Amino acid sequence: MAPAVHGSAEDAAHTRLQKVLARAGFGSRRVCDDLIGDGRVTVDGEIAVLGQRIDPEVAVVAVDGVRVGSAPGLVHYALNKPAGVVTTASDPQGRPTVLELVPAEPRVFAVGRLDLDTEGLLLLTNDGDLAQALTHPSHGVDKEYLAEVEGEPGPGALRALRQGVELDDGRTAPATVGVVSPGVLRIVIHEGRNRQVRRMCETVGHPVRRLVRTRIGPFSDRSLRPGQFRVLTPAEVRSLGVAAAGGGARDEGGPSAAPSAPL
Ligand code: URA
Repeated sequence: MAPAVHGSAEDAAHTRLQKVLARAGFGSRRVCDDLIGDGRVTVDGEIAVLGQRIDPEVAVVAVDGVRVGSAPGLVHYALNKPAGVVTTASDPQGRPTVLELVPAEPRVFAVGRLDLDTEGLLLLTNDGDLAQALTHPSHGVDKEYLAEVEGEPGPGALRALRQGVELDDGRTAPATVGVVSPGVLRIVIHEGRNRQVRRMCETVGHPVRRLVRTRIGPFSDRSLRPGQFRVLTPAEVRSLGVAAAGGGARDEGGPSAAPSAPL
């Protein structure tokens, strides 16, 4: 393998790699030097070396094979989708769409979809690779929902939800299900089937009254108001990439983001 180029007069104006990593949230420069020294960092596919300088605008930097930061032109938004807004790009019935809640340029698309009446966290991006990785069923990025349901599910219903429910398109995978308060469930699933949480709850006799997505993989944000969006930080984009690559799915218990109003 050709050694990575560094330290020449030509790239002296560029930024030190450890500084780029530190800015992207990998820790102190010392920690970043260790990452480089351990051979975990690549620049344009080549293993990086200590002291290397790069042009952060053009270099593709990766740690453990996952790209750091965004390629130029890529945008990543987190939106708190309100009820009554469709996730499709346009709606024949003229209902408001999620695309009307984020900047029109550059053009983005939703990562997966939420039903018309489902609220909460939705990612929008023009980053096809990340979107594909996050939505690919085999990657198992977990998604957390708070579901207000009819009645109070008893042990049998909770067990069924946890173990898997027979739906018309097959049995659901095991889910994490907790009772937040009477009639309010916290449900974490790894699949992304159409209306999955609603169908699961209906099948066990407790139809959903209100559904809010509160977390996608490692990402949640309690501060977004309904209809509000924000740009993800490079570190957040990276953590989603790591989760989609199989390293970050987690379920540490307890709702991680508040619904827009008390359930
Ligand atoms: N499950 C549902 O039933 N609806 C959604 O919008 C998302 C997950």
